Amino acid sequence: MGPGRLVCYRQVSASRMAIASAALFVGLNNPKKRSPAETMTTQQDVQIRILDTVDIGAVTDIDEKITGRYRPEEWERRIAYYMRRDPDAALAAERGGAVVGFMLGEVRAGEFGLEEPTGWIEVLGVDPDCQGGAIGRRLAESLLEHFRTQGATTVRTLVDETMDDIAGFFGSLGFEPAPLKPFVKTL
Ligand SMILES: CC(C)(COP(=O)(O)OP(=O)(O)OC[C@H]1O[C@@H](n2cnc3c(N)ncnc32)[C@H](O)[C@@H]1OP(=O)(O)O)[C@@H](O)C(=O)NCCC(=O)NCCS
Repeated sequence: MGPGRLVCYRQVSASRMAIASAALFVGLNNPKKRSPAETMTTQQDVQIRILDTVDIGAVTDIDEKITGRYRPEEWERRIAYYMRRDPDAALAAERGGAVVGFMLGEVRAGEFGLEEPTGWIEVLGVDPDCQGGAIGRRLAESLLEHFRTQGATTVRTLVDETMDDIAGFFGSLGFEPAPLKPFVKTL
């Protein structure tokens, strides 16, 4: 098998739970620790690193595998936006030379009546062939660590109520439904 070929396996945790909520948050001063045994089971050959513009193609491919939509221009625009705002909050998970996941976010303050510096997780994706192997968890842990260094005390995200899988993922990471109500109006 040549370099860059993707090697992944599916591993589904028995402790998956589903919660549905519009806004989720977690305090950053009390990170969930994995036991040594749990750590052994994570994919140790996966590296978390800063995302680069050369990764746009790989991110586009992961998105296409997840959503069925091929959107290269959209990802070029989106990744350029996040890299401009905070390059250290645009992360890639790499394994065997191939990008197998990504997570984008940033720290903001003074929005939605939230004065404290808040880390926002805004876009994420793990290659469907690699899901269930703690890649999403490792991406989140790295991003949360970065948010801490930026002075954030809370991390927040928004999840569509129909997306039980993503809500379950954040629930496993210690996120809880937040007292923040989304409003929407069609234009
Ligand atoms: C959500 C997502 C990032 C999780 O990544 P992952 O690498 O599979 O997750 P992990 O293996 O790190 O799981 C971490 C925890 O979340 C839980 N979890 C993961 N997926 C879950 C699901 N579908 N339902 C419930 N819980 C889930 C795991 O059980 C695990 O909990 P544990 O550590 O207590 O056992 C991934 O499934 C994904 O990319 N989903 C699609 C995202 C999407 O639609 N993005 C928009 C387009 S790009």
